[in-house]
Amino acid sequence: MAASESTASTRARVGGAMVRQAKLQDAVNIFELVNSLSGDGTLLRRSYAEICENVRDFAVAESESGIFLGCGALHLYGPHLAEVRSIVVKPEAKGQGAGGRLLLALLEEADLQGVVSVCLFTRIPDFFFHFGFRIADRTTLPDKIYKDCQACPRLYACDEVAMVRGPLPRIAVLGPTRIAQPELVKLQVGHISHPVEEAAQAAIEAASNATAKLPK
Ligand SMILES: CC(C)(COP(=O)(O)OP(=O)(O)OC[C@H]1O[C@@H](n2cnc3c(N)ncnc32)[C@H](O)[C@@H]1OP(=O)(O)O)[C@@H](O)C(=O)NCCC(=O)NCCS
Repeated sequence: MAASESTASTRARVGGAMVRQAKLQDAVNIFELVNSLSGDGTLLRRSYAEICENVRDFAVAESESGIFLGCGALHLYGPHLAEVRSIVVKPEAKGQGAGGRLLLALLEEADLQGVVSVCLFTRIPDFFFHFGFRIADRTTLPDKIYKDCQACPRLYACDEVAMVRGPLPRIAVLGPTRIAQPELVKLQVGHISHPVEEAAQAAIEAASNATAKLPK
């Protein structure tokens, strides 16, 4: 989410919750909340490093007094497709509009990026029907399959439905990963200059020379 979007529109209050672009300082809260629901497969597990790396994808909802209430992310595959991920509200904040406000902020971000096709995988399609999503055949979303499903332990027992808002994407940018044979790098033979080590070595030699010159 671009910095300029932390404006009146994304900070609108709904049911006491405000939505803003996430900052790195939110990463711990996001990590804890998302992973509190990853054990039963409600949300995909996200590592702390992955959240920090992608923190600009996230929006957070917070109370008027700045208490973290929930989060959601918009992943951009390209101009043809974006995905709503990791959308969750703390149990005590549910049913007060924060989840809907987060989703609207993510959809607004997709719109600002010029992306009209937005997808997600979920177990609660009813929530997303409220916001214009419809159920889709998952094979129409190869980018999502290659990004997450291939490595998912639930690949052949998935209980989520694929949903799309807007037209189905006509192209995909991801595919099976091919690992190219790495080119071997020749090791340098001989001395590799290292200024810090050389300075340390010079200091050791100077000290030992000084010791040798001391009267016995
Ligand atoms: C889904 C979730 C984010 C919704 O957040 P929320 O703050 O409770 O939702 P809101 O209060 O903004 O509700 C917005 C609308 O959706 C409806 N809604 C909320 N949760 C719903 C659900 N599980 N199923 C159907 N409708 C739902 C509300 O009734 C409301 O409808 P209205 O506008 O007609 O009154 C929240 O329940 C949550 O964190 N769930 C666990 C995580 C999860 O399943 N995330 C989705 C992963 S894909």
